[in-house]
Amino acid sequence: MDFELSDDQKLIRDTARTFAKNVVAPKARDTDRNEIFPAETYRQMGELGLLGVNVPAEYGGAGAGVISYALAVMEISQACCSTSVGMCVTNMCAELITQFGTEAQKTKHVTRLVSGEAIAGAFALSEPHAGSDPGAGYTTAVKKGDRWVLNGTKQWITSGAHAGVIVVWARTSNDGNKGLSCFIVEKGTPGLTAGKHEEKMGLRGSNTVPLTFENCEVPEENLLGKLGEGFKLAMIALDGGRIGIAAQAVGTARAAIEASVKYAKDRKAFGSPIGDFQAIRWMLADLQTQTSAAELLALRAAFLKESKVPFTREASMAKLFASELSNRAADRAVQIHGGYGYIDEFPVERYLRDARVQTIYEGTSEIQRIVIAREVLKQLA
Ligand code: CAA
Repeated sequence: MDFELSDDQKLIRDTARTFAKNVVAPKARDTDRNEIFPAETYRQMGELGLLGVNVPAEYGGAGAGVISYALAVMEISQACCSTSVGMCVTNMCAELITQFGTEAQKTKHVTRLVSGEAIAGAFALSEPHAGSDPGAGYTTAVKKGDRWVLNGTKQWITSGAHAGVIVVWARTSNDGNKGLSCFIVEKGTPGLTAGKHEEKMGLRGSNTVPLTFENCEVPEENLLGKLGEGFKLAMIALDGGRIGIAAQAVGTARAAIEASVKYAKDRKAFGSPIGDFQAIRWMLADLQTQTSAAELLALRAAFLKESKVPFTREASMAKLFASELSNRAADRAVQIHGGYGYIDEFPVERYLRDARVQTIYEGTSEIQRIVIAREVLKQLA
């Protein structure tokens, strides 16, 4: 067992750290308050190799592996989760096309995603009535000559109005989960419309829209993977995506601790910095312990994925633990800041709002427990 990062992993982490500190963090408050989609930041991240950390170099990625990817997400998230969520989803789309796409699909779409040319990727799985149960989606794809015609509505689509490349799930038969197939749809395809941007509690700089497909035609070569295998592709992509959200939650928790430590050293009460009081120290001690545990869970899941061994259970455990922790960490940070934690002069109220969705998207905590329990029971059978 080796806890030391390789030189390449340190390089990616440090590149992300410097970019987060110099470019992302100074804009984070404005990005959130004014709902500014970070398109220019994504272009810059593409140039630095931060949009395709785990994508092979032959398709424009950094080819630096899953651990490096998780480290980079932690750094960007510590500065701004509105920015890191789009980074995660773009990576998820790029990895999925790299794993299941034809050579032509990889050359065309993955390179655009990781270079930042496509601005972002979008993962269009959820529907208004089908979030935790994506196999219940209504969107259809019907073959017409050498084209697929898509009809339906997708909901909560991260970066949906800006993404140049959208991976869309649609029903190609009525065979339950086995009736879903996966398609690549490019921005600007006739029949594809992005709806009203949702005014969210947190992640306000991230764009979240419904996408409507109305007789939206794509060429037959835009089928991703095999017909009827869409559900499996979604599950495989989400296993990897959950490592990204676990890493995002670690970044949020670290940011909450960092802000709290600074405040606890500056703020005085009863003649001493509040960091001298045991009440504050115990909160910090618990949060630091749990954040280190979350980091190890996330990196272990990343290590397993990188080693090409099953990691479904570990990804869900990391996502469950880290996202529940980030909410506690942000909540405690507000408590430590007292009244100042409740106003936007300090960043901790943003951390609390941003953390809230982490136990919901890419599978709620309840879904993670279903996945973990199934794997545990399989293992003990
Ligand atoms: N890897 C590979 N295959 C898998 C798999 C995995 N992790 N999990 C399931 N499968 C396969 C099964 O083996 C099964 O295959 P067979 O039919 O050939 O046996 C098939 O998929 C169906 O599996 P289940 O019977 O387990 O499916 P289910 O309907 O019971 O659902 C679930 C399982 C885990 C609850 C799943 O529906 C799930 O993960 N739901 C949550 C969805 C989710 O996370 N949505 C997030 C939206 S995206 C998002 O948030 C992105 C964003 O913008 C930030």
